[in-house]
Order: sequence, then C-alpha cells, then structure tokens
Amino acid sequence: MGIAMKTIIRNIDCLVTCRGEGVKKGSDMMDAGIINDGYVVIDAGRIAAVGEGEGYREHLKPSDLVIDGAGKTVTPGLIDGHTHLVYAGSREFELPLKLAKVGYIDILKAGGGILSSVRDTRAASREELVLQARKRLDLMLTHGTTTVESKSGYGLDLETEMKMLRANRLLNDSQPVDIVSTFMGAHAVPQEYKEDREGYIRLIVEEMLPKVREENLAEFADCFCEHGVFDIEETRRILTAARAQGFKIKLHADEVVSTGGAELAGEMKAVSAEHLVAASQEGMKAMADNNVIAILLPTTSFYLMLEKFADARKMIELGVPVALATDCNPGTSPTESLQIVMTYACFGLRMMPEEIINAVTLNAACSIGREKEIGSIEAGKKADLVIFDAKNLNYLIYHFGVNAVDTVIKDGNIVVKGGLKC
Ligand code: NIG
Ligand code: FE
Repeated sequence: MGIAMKTIIRNIDCLVTCRGEGVKKGSDMMDAGIINDGYVVIDAGRIAAVGEGEGYREHLKPSDLVIDGAGKTVTPGLIDGHTHLVYAGSREFELPLKLAKVGYIDILKAGGGILSSVRDTRAASREELVLQARKRLDLMLTHGTTTVESKSGYGLDLETEMKMLRANRLLNDSQPVDIVSTFMGAHAVPQEYKEDREGYIRLIVEEMLPKVREENLAEFADCFCEHGVFDIEETRRILTAARAQGFKIKLHADEVVSTGGAELAGEMKAVSAEHLVAASQEGMKAMADNNVIAILLPTTSFYLMLEKFADARKMIELGVPVALATDCNPGTSPTESLQIVMTYACFGLRMMPEEIINAVTLNAACSIGREKEIGSIEAGKKADLVIFDAKNLNYLIYHFGVNAVDTVIKDGNIVVKGGLKC
C-alpha cells in the first residue's frame, strides 16, 4: 500500500465520532459523539483533525483529496471483536437438523457441529485455510469492518491449532483488515480424547499454550465454558494456566445454559465474556464490578433459534460495558456483516442506535486492547473510517439486510469505493 494521500471528508450529514476516554458503560453508551455537518482531516494514515462546518478550510491544500459527505453517515471503522474467521468447509447440511429441533450441544455430542468443522480444518492445508478466510475478510471489509479478532479452535490438536494461528498471521500481513489472534484450543474436546478429557486439558496447558506463546501467535486465550463442553473448574484451570503463561483472557460464557461463566469472568477479571444469553444477574454484577466487557452476539441467538437474546438492557443498567460482534463461524453465525448484527442488536437486544455504534467501535476496540489506536474518530488515531450511504445513524440500522457501505478508509487509504473493493 502506497503513502496515503491527505484527504478531507467535509459536509458530513452525520459524523459519528464515538469519542471517549476508554470503555463506555451505563448512560455513557448513549454518547456517540455525533457532529452534524462535520468534517474529518486525514493525513499520513492518521486522523489529523475533526470538526464542524467550514472549519476544514484552514486545513485545505490544493493537492488534498476532498470527499463530499452530504447525505452520508461516517463512523469509525467497525471492529468485530469475536469471530472464528479461519476454518474450512461449511455446515449448511445442519439446517434440517436445526429445523427438527436437534439441540446445538446434542449435534456436537454426536460428533457433528464444531467437530465436523474440525475434520474439515484438519484436512485443509494452510494455503486453503488462508484462501477461504481471505474471502470472508474481503466481505468483512466491504461491509465496513477494519479490524477483527480471530480465534483458533477448529484444530484441537497442536499442529492444526498452530496452522490456524499462522493463517491469521499470514492474513494480517497480506490484506488491509487488521487481525488480533486468540488461541481457543479449548473450543471442544476432540473425538480422540472423548474418554480422556484430562489428557486433552493437559495437552492444552502443557503443550499448546507454551508453543503458541513461544511463537507469539496469539495475544488472548479463550475457553468455551458451557454445559457439555468445558465446566467451570476446567475453564478456571485452563484460563489460569493461560494467564500464567502471558495470555490475556476471554471466555465463551453462558451461551445456551448458565453454568456460572459470567461469575467466573468477574472472578478472573477476564478482559471479556462473550455470548451471555443465559447469564445470571449475579454474574452480570460480577462482570460490572470487575469491568469485564460483555461481547454480545445477537445473530447467534437468532441462528440457534434460542428463545431469548442476551439481556443487554440489564447489563447496561448494571454498568457492564457492552460490545457487539458477528461470531462469524460455520455453525452458529455464518455472516461477515456487522451491519446485520447492528439491526439484530436493535430489535433483539433492544439497544439504542448510539449504544450500538459504540458497541461495534470503541467498546469493541477495548475488548481487544486496541482503544489507544482505533475505535473512535479523534485526532491522533489511525484513519480507519467508513462512509455509509445513510443520512443518519438511525437510518443505518433501520434499513437492513443490504450493504450500506459506500467507502472504507483503512490507515488513510481508500480500500472500498462505491461499495466495491479497490
Ligand atoms: O461462538 N460456541 C462456540 N463456538 C462458536 C460456534 C462454533 C461452531 O459451531 O462451529 C460460537 O457460537
Ligand atoms: Fe464464538
């Protein structure tokens, strides 16, 4: 990518800056820092100035690229803080099972679900994994996502977990979307360890975590804490070992039934707990007390045909910082679009548009430890921005099921124009 041109976006009908000091919670989530008739000055890949009205003129040079923001909404580049980006194959054959009401965990117990994607992922070469994930990243980018968290967890053996994490690194280095890696060897117990859970946990703790650390292939470690997958004790053990080895921790908690995952996230002061559809009030309070970010995944509730969505309103009331993500994966949320997630967050989670945009920008940045660099449109931050063909923020969420992206700017470069990759 060449040197980014100095660029000014002016006359922006709705400039949603999401500015703020660190993670937003409670009523602060309603502050999206909206400027009507705003402008943004971008220089050398960074945001140089943000303001209102004609103020851009003092920055304007004849050589600048000027973009007109009339009729548009401009937001920070969207941040997808929970995905399973790298995997092989797909699982559309599960649709009839879903409709016959076979439970997600029952499909897994019968050797399907995650384990079916594990078979495909083990069989794929690193190059095949990169190719397949690259397609997803292209879609994410054209839908406005500029940074993504990507979990391993379809290997469940040392070799394949490493292959997935190396794919993350290759992808990060070869296309515009930034990738933050999470090691998730504790995504399920593989078939070959069905009768020896202890052996698999030891493999994670004694071999996988040290090897991933040694090659510096992941910043975070995550564990699927769920009835029928890893219980509270096992999760505590795995994540304690991960922390001791230098990983920051996250957990998939209370996705289908409550096993006390939210409480554990609080106790362990995890960076984030994710899903939380069945989280108890005590668990939410423990999260609030320990500043654990809730990453909510409403398209997953929809896709699992769960009877309810996570209780976002209660979490916000209790002061839990809320982020939103796609959970992009082959089983429970095969979508790359954070725009769809935003609409589901509105109607399923009853979140307000201002809360939603903070949840896919600044709060999502906090959930991956990148809030100093990205997540808001403020002078000094990376110039990652999206220009949406939407006259205001509400419209962006209201008009759904289509891609409203007009332009994506990544590190100051235009990477999507007219909705198409450049
Ligand atoms: O977040 N819950 C665990 N992991 C994914 C689903 C993975 C899969 O079904 O392939 C999730 O929902
Ligand atoms: Fe997930």
